[in-house]
Amino acid sequence: MERLQKYIASCGVCSRRKAEEYIQKGLVSVNGSVVTEMGTKVSEGDVVRFRGEVILPEERKVYILLNKPEGYITSVTDDRGRKTVVDLIKGVDERIFPVGRLDCNTSGLLILTNDGELAKRLTHPSHNVDKVYEALVRRTPTPDEIRYFENGMYIDGRKTAPARLEVISEDPPKVRVTIHEGRNRQVRKMLEEIDNKAVSLKRTAIGKINLGSLKKGRYRHLSPHETEYLKNI
Ligand code: URA
Repeated sequence: MERLQKYIASCGVCSRRKAEEYIQKGLVSVNGSVVTEMGTKVSEGDVVRFRGEVILPEERKVYILLNKPEGYITSVTDDRGRKTVVDLIKGVDERIFPVGRLDCNTSGLLILTNDGELAKRLTHPSHNVDKVYEALVRRTPTPDEIRYFENGMYIDGRKTAPARLEVISEDPPKVRVTIHEGRNRQVRKMLEEIDNKAVSLKRTAIGKINLGSLKKGRYRHLSPHETEYLKNI
């Protein structure tokens, strides 16, 4: 149950104070009857109209950054009963979904949201923000192989955009890979192309959004600053 003026404001029609004015003027009806009393409350299922038009609460937009553990699939539900990334998010009522994909055996930074507009923009092929991965590999790549990444290589019959391959540790052999596209299993395939292998793979950043010290399986809401950044790239 919620006061009518608060409900009207939550629909993005106007402020609460202005809503009181509209109620007094007889511009608001609940379930077909004009309501002019200020104390009126509405609950779920009530049909509220303003100037004859049905009004509905605006959905709160949520933006979550998850450190995805291995073993979870990047989807909302699964008909084969596998664990999904959405299972890890508790206490969020909005219908969130993952933005883009990480393989089941990849861990790291994954954004979940109910903002379809943002998700569409971030996953569009023309969207070429840096995506940064760290991989434990079989062996340290050679300088030639590093150049091969920079020049672009053919995977699945199509050339990749220039990518960056950096050695971050020799023992154990670890690399950082930066790509601008989001092709299916791209980092794994690029490493296979140089006869190497990602023994484990973790995404650490998308543009300026960093995983930081967030533990595997934990999540946090993006800051307003981060959300703004994502909307503008
Ligand atoms: N590249 C891959 O190979 N796997 C991922 O999950 C993401 C990028």
